[in-house]
Amino acid sequence: MSGKGGVGKTTVAVNLAYYLADNDNVVGILDADVHGPNVLKLMGIDNQHMGTHDNKLVPIYATPNLRVSSLAGLVSDESAIIWRGPLKHKALSQLINDTEWGDLDYLIVDFPPGTGDELISIAQFINGITGAVIVSTPQHVSLLDMGRAIDFCRKMNIKIIGLIENMSGDIFGKGTVKDVCDSQDIPFLGMLPLNRKIVQSGEDGIPFYHDNDGLRNEFNIIVQNILKNIENKEEASLSEDSVMTTLSKTIHPEIDYSLTDLGMIKHVNVKNGTVSLVLLLPFLNVPVKDDIISLITNAIKGLDNKIKVDITIEEMNDSERQQFMAMAQKGWKDNTQYT
Ligand SMILES: Nc1ncnc2c1ncn2[C@@H]1O[C@H](COP(=O)(O)OP(=O)(O)OP(=O)(O)O)[C@@H](O)[C@H]1O
Ligand SMILES: [Mg+2]
Repeated sequence: MSGKGGVGKTTVAVNLAYYLADNDNVVGILDADVHGPNVLKLMGIDNQHMGTHDNKLVPIYATPNLRVSSLAGLVSDESAIIWRGPLKHKALSQLINDTEWGDLDYLIVDFPPGTGDELISIAQFINGITGAVIVSTPQHVSLLDMGRAIDFCRKMNIKIIGLIENMSGDIFGKGTVKDVCDSQDIPFLGMLPLNRKIVQSGEDGIPFYHDNDGLRNEFNIIVQNILKNIENKEEASLSEDSVMTTLSKTIHPEIDYSLTDLGMIKHVNVKNGTVSLVLLLPFLNVPVKDDIISLITNAIKGLDNKIKVDITIEEMNDSERQQFMAMAQKGWKDNTQYT
């Protein structure tokens, strides 16, 4: 992710994916950019489409080890990509939850620019994020947006794997991203120069890190640092408090309040590798029930990927329902919230 647009997120995501796949890992790339999904284009496979199998989406296989899921693979005509409101929300949630990835060693998610509502939904829908790699160019404006991306990760409890300085050199400057890392105690992953070959490789759909003139070395350093920092992931010691804190930041899909604010979470208990909780619903068959369950599951798995989540559903009693309805009326999101 980055905050700012056009800084090289997709370029880094695609090259990282190729690198890992070339080194015998099974890798997926999820193109989470609904406005300009261009992962397939940068990989030179934008003529391919995703299939379906048993109600699941089949990703596009760039190689047997490298699989891509993207909205651009779902529609054949570019002009048709006008995803609005709940439809967009639904499409993204399908890409995230309904893609038949098979067994992956790594899933790389290419985020759209920004840090708004849409990114919050994406981050909440993804199961157990290991961490975020943030890309910035050295200019001041880009650093400001990078600051927002850093705040976003902290707010969402996403580990920052580190920062990359892209397009480093005489034109945009050099070294500023590392300065931010030093002052904020965030790992610096490395830098990539502003280089015409990188533009060309994007146009040709061929990974630039295959290049032998130095880009390969720069990129190797970055990947090794990413892998090292992922391995250093501290075992999250899950407590009931940390689960509640996370759920207090988990926003209801239709109402602009968190699940705890809405009084929907009861009896959180962490024991023997399982988080059990009671989810209170105003009515047992609310249409967003499944969305809420997957939000809760993903939020908790974001704290610890291996934890089991056991959710029991109960219906609110009259006074709980009254309180819920009062808040719901205040916080009802209209469709524009999703656009
Ligand atoms: N180090 C670099 N040197 C030269 N060109 C680069 C470099 N990194 C990326 N580019 C080029 O800059 C353009 C934008 O890159 P990319 O699409 O990866 O950015 P992005 O952050 O994903 O953009 P968006 O926010 O729109 O998703 C592409 O044409 C890419 O080839
Ligand atoms: Mg991009």
